[in-house]
Amino acid sequence: MSYSPSLPICNSSHVTVIGAGRVGSTLAQRIVEKNLADVVLLDIVPGMPQGLALDLIEARGIEMHDRKIIGTNNYADTSGSEIVVITAGFPRKPGMSRDDLLLTNAKIVVEAAKNAIQYSPEAIFIIVTNPLDVMTYLAWQATGLPRERIMGMAGVLDSARFETFIALELGVAPKDVKAMVMGSHGDLMVPLPRYSTVNGVPITELLDGETIERLVKRTRNGGAEIVELMQTGGAFFAPASAACVMVESILHNQSRMLPAAALMQGEYGLNDVFIGVPCRLGCAGIEKIVELNLTDAELDELRISADNVRANTNRAQEILMAGV
Ligand code: LAC
Repeated sequence: MSYSPSLPICNSSHVTVIGAGRVGSTLAQRIVEKNLADVVLLDIVPGMPQGLALDLIEARGIEMHDRKIIGTNNYADTSGSEIVVITAGFPRKPGMSRDDLLLTNAKIVVEAAKNAIQYSPEAIFIIVTNPLDVMTYLAWQATGLPRERIMGMAGVLDSARFETFIALELGVAPKDVKAMVMGSHGDLMVPLPRYSTVNGVPITELLDGETIERLVKRTRNGGAEIVELMQTGGAFFAPASAACVMVESILHNQSRMLPAAALMQGEYGLNDVFIGVPCRLGCAGIEKIVELNLTDAELDELRISADNVRANTNRAQEILMAGV
């Protein structure tokens, strides 16, 4: 069953969002309200994406956009998507790490990726489900996509959190702060103060080392801080905004340089692992992986982060093979 009351999606560009939970539905809302593309919102729960689509459609006149939204349980409706975003899976509960979701989410993501690629073989895939870097690897394997066309969303979110905490600390506008967070989307992420600035001024000129360390720690704990506060589920506004920025850069061929989880093939001395690195995102997907000059200490942190992702990726593959 799909819901499209006289609002058919034609051949115009459309984005499929798989998983109509809080991240997926908020992302669908952001995409249509920013007038970026039509959206197909898919979930396995009967009626849920249809209801959300209808709700979003009813807001169109108020929000003054012309984008169409289809809610569906049927992958055939996603056919010909330009971008597929996978958000399906379970969020964390208080006290859980993102890695604790490995078992539950691996099968969900692999199945979603396999189904989606069948109907949108030309699409660019963005994976959002946690543990993010591992899930992106599994989706890459499941789809057989070239690495340019599959990436994970997390660096934009982690950087946005770091930017927020820097802005709050300095009492400056968040839009003037640009931060860079590399590495995995987890406790071992690698925020880079040297490459974080307030309108071009490195924060290392504006804040002392102890304060920066405190902000780095809060960034690493950013997702868990919200899970602890909410108790039911986790963050979704900022994750949806972060995914939307990536969608926009690709759809509008903006070539923005954004951190994203990408498959390493020798960059930063890393191989065969998805990890957050600065990428130039345009209509071809990842157009370039930018190799920053890192200090030995920063590089060590990145390697430790990548080793952890690799170990969890191996674990996930074992779980999938065992069919648990
Ligand atoms: C977070 C989840 C989305 O960081 O991973 O809030």
